[in-house]
Amino acid sequence: MANVAVVGAQWGDEGKGKIVDWLSSRADVVVRFQGGHNAGHTLVINGVEYKLSLLPSGVVRPGKLSVIGNGVVVDPWALLKEIEAIRSKGVEVTPETLVVAENATLILPVHGAVDRAREEARGASKIGTTGRGIGPAYEDKVARRAIRLCDLADPAVLDGKVEQMLFHHNALLRGFGAPEIEAADLLAQLREIAPRILPYAGVVWDRLDALRRQGKRILFEGAQGTMLDVDHGTYPFVTSSNTVAGNAATGSGMGPGAVGHVLGICKAYTTRVGSGPFPTEQVNDIGELLGARGKEFGVVTGRKRRCGWFDAVMVRQAVKVGGINGIALTKLDVLDGFAELKVCTGYRHEGRVLNHYPAGQTAQASVEPIYETFEGWSESTRGARSWADLPATAVKYVRRIEELIEAPVTLLSTSPERDDTILMHDPFED
Ligand code: GDP
Ligand code: IMO
Ligand code: MG
Repeated sequence: MANVAVVGAQWGDEGKGKIVDWLSSRADVVVRFQGGHNAGHTLVINGVEYKLSLLPSGVVRPGKLSVIGNGVVVDPWALLKEIEAIRSKGVEVTPETLVVAENATLILPVHGAVDRAREEARGASKIGTTGRGIGPAYEDKVARRAIRLCDLADPAVLDGKVEQMLFHHNALLRGFGAPEIEAADLLAQLREIAPRILPYAGVVWDRLDALRRQGKRILFEGAQGTMLDVDHGTYPFVTSSNTVAGNAATGSGMGPGAVGHVLGICKAYTTRVGSGPFPTEQVNDIGELLGARGKEFGVVTGRKRRCGWFDAVMVRQAVKVGGINGIALTKLDVLDGFAELKVCTGYRHEGRVLNHYPAGQTAQASVEPIYETFEGWSESTRGARSWADLPATAVKYVRRIEELIEAPVTLLSTSPERDDTILMHDPFED
């Protein structure tokens, strides 16, 4: 029986939350391993919508353990706020049901300030970050000046660490002409939040090891997507972590063998929020229609998502670099009623045909997609719960995608509702 890692195979917002929630009925533990509250994962259960940013999407199911791994950058204020919000919807969250890795890096107010000041200074070349301080917090981790959750229980080191960290960041803020952060204020804030957040701190690697030895099933929940991965994505228009399943092991304190089946999530078309290249983007009526039908607005920032055709070259690349075993294809219903659909099968670049997405910034921005055209379907697929309910042209579209991306579609989603999901192959059975 394999564990399963769910990862985005495009630019995020593929419907990971819905799929993780659905799959979590078959799991015992759900683990976030990277990213932070830049993520926005939506679940819809019997018409009730839940929006999660830091809490794993298994949190709504009683009896499941939720884990925030060491690879996540945790804003403790955002986490406590999210816990309160979900409690008000009747979901129980306690230190028995939620564990946060004691060695996770904290996002502090100074990280958000630096993130936003830097974006403003970049002007037209801004990355379009969520402004949540994700990049600066990961930078601090690698630079070995981060404050970690366990430091809140260690006043002897906290003062010195805060001092050292602010020495760096205040120099940056001064350069940007932004207000500096007072060490005394930050320390007071940390001392106030410490007793409220520390009850959730735990030795995650040890808990996961014990659960694994008991034969419990672990579901890893990725955030963002392969094209936002700091190595494999559209650098520099990426997030600051590895979003691929390889990081599920490092980001939770387990060995690579623990990850098991890798389930990539992608939409039946493509969206992106923020700046950066997007070869199949449709800045026209088609893009507008996809956005309106798919309700493509960001969960975290409310920004309108850019929309375009399915890019099979990019998803095939995500399959290869991320070791994706199968795909959950979501939002097929959004394509209902299109007379014609297009899928990108290659790129034209400087007189040559490329069957991969190049790494260079200029090349990424200038490749021209080569399209294959498909007949659409007029029937509704919304809410379909069996493969037999799908129109023949929709089946043909999905089958061709499988061929092009060199991976099977093992799950299909036909509405935001939890149970409007078609299972072709159970990823836990691998
Ligand atoms: P995530 O970040 O990958 O978890 O995805 P988001 O929650 O940011 O965005 C996906 C959006 O699509 C959410 O509003 C979901 O409720 C919605 N959604 C997920 N699956 C489907 C589907 O199959 N059909 C439709 N129409 N909407 C879906
Ligand atoms: P989920 O988990 C879509 C994008 C931002 C920006 C870039 C860097 O819901 O799929 P950051 O704040 O991470 O430094 O921003 O990454 N981005 C996402 N786009 N879905 C997400 O998460 C995202 N998280 C970050 O828009 O382009
Ligand atoms: Mg999202």
